[in-house]
Amino acid sequence: MTKWSVFDKKLRGYPALMGSVLRRLTIIFPVCLLTVASPIHAAGQPKIVAGPYLQHVTKTSITIMWETDTPSTSIIKFGKARVIPKPKKGEPIPTAPLDQQVASAEINTIHEFVIENLDTQTDYFYQVYSRRSNDQEIASAILPFQTAVHDESAFAYVVMGDNRTYPKRFKQIADRAMAERPNFVLNVGDVVSNGHKKEQWIAEYLAPAAELMKRVPTYVSIGNHERNAPWYYRYSSYPSPENYYSFDYGNAHFTIIDSNADLSPGSKQREWLEKDLASSNAKWKFVAHHHPPFSSDSNDYGDTRYSSSRKGDDHVQMMPPLYEKYGVDIVWCGHIHDYERTWPLRDGKVDQANGVIYIQAGGGGAELEEFAPTRSWFTAKVLRNWQYCLVTIHDGTFRMMAYDMDGRLYDFLELKK
Ligand SMILES: [Fe+2]
Repeated sequence: MTKWSVFDKKLRGYPALMGSVLRRLTIIFPVCLLTVASPIHAAGQPKIVAGPYLQHVTKTSITIMWETDTPSTSIIKFGKARVIPKPKKGEPIPTAPLDQQVASAEINTIHEFVIENLDTQTDYFYQVYSRRSNDQEIASAILPFQTAVHDESAFAYVVMGDNRTYPKRFKQIADRAMAERPNFVLNVGDVVSNGHKKEQWIAEYLAPAAELMKRVPTYVSIGNHERNAPWYYRYSSYPSPENYYSFDYGNAHFTIIDSNADLSPGSKQREWLEKDLASSNAKWKFVAHHHPPFSSDSNDYGDTRYSSSRKGDDHVQMMPPLYEKYGVDIVWCGHIHDYERTWPLRDGKVDQANGVIYIQAGGGGAELEEFAPTRSWFTAKVLRNWQYCLVTIHDGTFRMMAYDMDGRLYDFLELKK
C-alpha cells in the first residue's frame, strides 16, 4: 500500500483529478523551527473532537487519524526518540524532538495520514496540527508511538470486544489495557451500538479508549452492530477492503474476517481468506471475526430454558475445517458478552495435538449474557464478567492471560511450538 492509497479512500465522491492535485500538495520535509501552537482551544481555532489515534502499523509505517469540528488542514510533526542530556538546575526541560513533518493542504474534518520510511521497532513522538489560517491552529499533546517489531522480537497484544453502549465500563477496560503497554490491540467488534449514528463512534468508542488509542494501534474485526456503515470506513484505516484484511506482526500473521459478510465457498471473501492463510509461513497464525463458531451462550443459538443449543453461530459454522487445514492456532471471537475458551478442536472433537483453539472475548462492556446451564463438550473455561485478554509471544512460546475488568487473572494458556 502506498501512503496515498488509504488517503484516497477519504476522497470517495470527489473527482479523481482533485485527488491527484491534493496528492501533489502533500510533502515530507524536515522542520528546522517548530511553529508554536497552543493546545488550548481559542475562538476561531478548529477543535480536535476525536483522537489523535493510531491505526495500522508496520515495521516502517504508521497510520494516524483525528477529527476536527470544522474543516481544516492536516499536519503531523514527528521525530525519533533519542537520549537527551538531563537539563541542569534552572535550565528548561527540552521538548521531544519533532524534526520531521507530513502535511496536507486538503481541507477535511476526519484526518488520516500514513507516515512512511520509519525505522523498525523504534520509538517516536508525534503531534498533530489542524489549521484554518495562520492564526487559527490547534495542536494535540505530544504523544508516543512505536513501529512494529523485528520478526525475532518478543511482543504483546490485547484482545477485547463488544465494548458498545457502556463507555464507562469500556474506559475501565481500555485503561487496564493501556497499563499492559501492548504493542497493539485487537477488538473483536461491536464497538458501537449502531454504526450509522456518527456520534456513537466518538461517545462509545474513540473517547472512552482515547488514552489507549493515542499510543497503541487498534485493529477491529467488524461486528453486526457496526452495520457495515460508512462511518466504520471513515473512522478506520486498515488494509483494503478494511472489513476484512490481514497483517503481520513479529513472527505472527493476523487474518481479520467480516463474519457478517458472505463466507460461503466461492465468495470473494472466502477466496481471499484461503489464499491469505495458505500464503503465510508465520510461526503463529491468528484469525479474528465477530461471531463465534463455538459458544455456550444460553439463548442465542437455541433457548436452553426449554431446548438444546446449536452451540455456535450460523454465520461461521462452515469455517473450522478451513482453520484446521491451514494450521490456525487461535481464532478470536466476540458477539456473546462473556468469556469462553475452547479446548483445541479438530473434526468436531477435542484434539490436543492438532486442534484449533477458539476464544470468545466479548466482555468489553456491553451487558453480560448467560451461559447454558450445562457444560459444552468443547469448553475449557468460561467466565461471566467484563474482561480482556493479554497475549505475549516470543519465538515458539505463546502465553495468554485473561483478566476481569478489576484486573483479576482468571485464565491462563501457554502454547509451545
Ligand atoms: Fe455482535
